Amino acid sequence: MENFVVAIDGPAGSGKSTIAKLLSKEFDLTYLDTGAMYRMVALYFLDNNIDFNNIVQIKKVLPLIEIDILDGKFILNGKDVSLEIRTPRVTEKVSFAAKIKEVREKLVDLQRKISFGKNVVLDGRDIGTVVFPDADLKIFLIASPEERARRRVKDYADKGMQEDYNEVLESIKERDYIDSHRDESPLKKAEDAIELDSSSMEIGETLEVLGKYIKEKKGE
Ligand code: CDP
Repeated sequence: MENFVVAIDGPAGSGKSTIAKLLSKEFDLTYLDTGAMYRMVALYFLDNNIDFNNIVQIKKVLPLIEIDILDGKFILNGKDVSLEIRTPRVTEKVSFAAKIKEVREKLVDLQRKISFGKNVVLDGRDIGTVVFPDADLKIFLIASPEERARRRVKDYADKGMQEDYNEVLESIKERDYIDSHRDESPLKKAEDAIELDSSSMEIGETLEVLGKYIKEKKGE
């Protein structure tokens, strides 16, 4: 079989990463969380006082940012930042890093290299439109902003962080807006993607629907 690519795109908190992880186990696919890579770049900018609007400075530091993913851990210049990249401090800024053309070029290149020759599932905003326009299966996973905010507050609580629902909802709406209105690879459904609204679906249900599509595509 040629390498098989599943692309899952959609807004913040629609369940992409949960679903992608489960699908990767069920179908023996390598999972690549592309959002985590943008989060690592945002963290680097924050920690090194890089102005998100200063493109000259950004071009200079981009080659210094080394991203590795080892055993599901996110390593930034040799340091495990898996937990740090999920903090609100990074979440609030990540979309400002992700709209920069040079940042996207570096990360898309890395995403294609990591995926080369493998059977993969990737989740993000531009996987089906830009990174892998020829993906075997493209899913556009959506849910209402309110449901996504509820899920995100629960995610934070599970990690011991108490976050205010209304603040999370506002932050999600802001990120949706920036991600969908930027010039570079905006968040949008690929023409040939299957749209799925997970607002009132259990994870198991979503998984079952997507599993069927994968089996169909693989000819099983
Ligand atoms: O997990 P959550 O839905 O909150 O977001 P994420 O997947 O970790 O992505 C964080 C941010 O990275 C997004 O809000 C986008 O600004 C950016 N991103 C992107 O531009 N392109 C991707 N392929 C993945 C993420």
